[in-house]
Amino acid sequence: MAIVSSGEIQAHSPSSKARTRVVDAVPMKEEMNSSREDGLRPRSLDDYIGQRELKKVLDIAVKAALGRGEALDHVLLYGPPGLGKTTMAVVVAEELGVKCRVTSAPALERPRDIVGLLLSLQPREVLFIDEIHRLARVTEELLYPAMEDLRIDLTVGKGSTSRTRALDLNPFTLVGATTKAGSLSSPLRDRFGLTHRLDFYSLEDLQAIVKRAADLLDLPLTQNACKEVAGRCRGTPRIANRLLRRIRDFATVMGTDAVINDQLVDEALKLHSVDHRGLDGSDRRLLQMLLEEHGGGPVGLETLAAGLGEDAATLEAVVEPYLLQLGFLRRTPRGRLVTNAGRSHLGWPNVQ
Ligand code: ADE
Repeated sequence: MAIVSSGEIQAHSPSSKARTRVVDAVPMKEEMNSSREDGLRPRSLDDYIGQRELKKVLDIAVKAALGRGEALDHVLLYGPPGLGKTTMAVVVAEELGVKCRVTSAPALERPRDIVGLLLSLQPREVLFIDEIHRLARVTEELLYPAMEDLRIDLTVGKGSTSRTRALDLNPFTLVGATTKAGSLSSPLRDRFGLTHRLDFYSLEDLQAIVKRAADLLDLPLTQNACKEVAGRCRGTPRIANRLLRRIRDFATVMGTDAVINDQLVDEALKLHSVDHRGLDGSDRRLLQMLLEEHGGGPVGLETLAAGLGEDAATLEAVVEPYLLQLGFLRRTPRGRLVTNAGRSHLGWPNVQ
């Protein structure tokens, strides 16, 4: 079934050099509104690797909806970027045998954007709204009766002569996605029948995702090469797919016809400063500055940011999360601290 993109899907990028990294989980400009990611997207729940709980839940819900000939309940997916929320919406639509209309909150600024979209939905179609926590207030309020009663309330006319006119909608499923579930208003949150968190992928699942994508791209990767990419993609399929494209470029330019092994992967990704654990230059610079200039910390975020020539908010939102997740960095009341795991990764001796 077709994926129809509605309006501009915008990046929510802080203006910073840390936002052009090959290991950034947020889609790059050229990855948005394009078929680049689409080619690698699984098209069925069977093809979708990982997120087993979510798959089980949706499998039952889809079968039940199909059995009753009804629209699927509204679904809210939340979790870090790049883990396959859009992909899952497209898969669900495919399983339901309907179109998936893809849009994002910033593209629904004016009331007429959402009204037009809702009125154009065919019975049981899926409407996917990315970054749903960013919806404009009026848009969100138009969605409440649409989700609950398949109705939109339009105000016609101005001033004392204005009145409300209700328009009926076809049954539809709203799939909302957000990286910030906590920022969603409770009236909106409460209107989703199914709410699920997507988690970072295991190494095993990532290896299978890399193998599948490599096959689709006609890239002869060895098992060890798949493992190497899986280990460097920060638990995130979008990053894995992006790294694969950089590896394909490298193999093309090097004229490598033979299989792509882990050594070639290493050479290709060294060019982009992505190491075995998926750290890039920005990550290592932060750890190195802490170690070399501040004895490993603790040191305040602002001091670190000034030393690195970055803004503190970007460091906190973009660079630190993965280092914290790996346990290479700790946030303490007195500032940031490199852990022994972080020290070992950079070849520094442990401290007590
Ligand atoms: N490509 C991106 N995410 C995927 C997933 N979860 N399963 C299969 N292929 C993918």
